[in-house]
Amino acid sequence: MSEVSSIDHVQELLAGEGYVCGRDLATVTFLALRLGRPIFLEGEAGVGKTEIAKAIASALGRDLIRLQCYEGLDAASAVYEWNFAAQMVAIRTAEASGGADRAALQEELFGPDYLVERPLLQAMRPHNGGAPVLLIDELDRTDEPFEAFLLEALSDFQVTIPEIGTIKAPEPPIVIVTSNRTREVHDALKRRCLYHWVDYPDFAREMEILTSRAPEAAEALSREVVAFVQRLRTEDLFKKPGVAETIDWAKCLLALDVLTLSPEVIADTLGAVLKYQDDIAKLQGSEAKRLLDEARATLEPA
Ligand SMILES: Nc1ncnc2c1ncn2[C@@H]1O[C@H](COP(=O)(O)OP(=O)(O)OP(=O)(O)O)[C@@H](O)[C@H]1O
Ligand SMILES: [Mg+2]
Repeated sequence: MSEVSSIDHVQELLAGEGYVCGRDLATVTFLALRLGRPIFLEGEAGVGKTEIAKAIASALGRDLIRLQCYEGLDAASAVYEWNFAAQMVAIRTAEASGGADRAALQEELFGPDYLVERPLLQAMRPHNGGAPVLLIDELDRTDEPFEAFLLEALSDFQVTIPEIGTIKAPEPPIVIVTSNRTREVHDALKRRCLYHWVDYPDFAREMEILTSRAPEAAEALSREVVAFVQRLRTEDLFKKPGVAETIDWAKCLLALDVLTLSPEVIADTLGAVLKYQDDIAKLQGSEAKRLLDEARATLEPA
């Protein structure tokens, strides 16, 4: 995987995809690509964990394969399943036409035609353009047995299907694991990966991201939006706004032809930024104005 020559190069490639990547995350990405190690990204919601996998795949011209984790996810849904319905139809058809060769039928039923490939198996297959990017998203939503299973799959990049045999990746996929940290992911899995905590961006970086994702927004409005969201994150909220919310909000304001923030505008559009009624209630009355004034004060020197 010599496609990336330096940390700067990684930053450039990702910038080409509209992804603003700090030096720290770019370093982890560079090392992961160079050493062929999985990346483990943990962080708050909406800070760009999933997006970086998409950006890497697109920048390197690789396929993106996504395994979305959820409670109860098991190996069958992650690796492969037999297409039971199609198998039944084939059996019925064979029965109806009489005298089917049982052995041949059995072999056919457990062959490639009836195999449903799920993300982990897809990632072991050869892909045009090189090894795919395998995004294992929101790993914290699964349970520990699945994690143990995953650990094994990630260590040798092969999958064994009793009826077919072992399928091994010609080249290990580029693996990106994300977690929102609703629970701790096991050490054993973390140890295999290069770890990075994705934090909320600072003002300057969030401005860069917003400029990249909503270039049509005027700079003055973007600065106010980012300053306000940054100020909001220091409040004691149930769910702090992520970068995704900043971008959404700016786009809402644009759609409303808003040129500058005001307490009224904030009250009307707060649903783009805060998603819990308790949090929204905290900004009632004079509170929005106070935060806006404080946010503006941080902008003054620039
Ligand atoms: N560094 C960044 N550069 C460009 N866009 C970004 C960046 N960070 C976040 N975004 C934007 O924010 C949106 C949300 O990011 P993403 O879906 O990756 O968040 P996440 O960390 O996976 O959150 P969740 O935990 O909610 O899944 C993306 O659609 C992307 O447009
Ligand atoms: Mg995500």
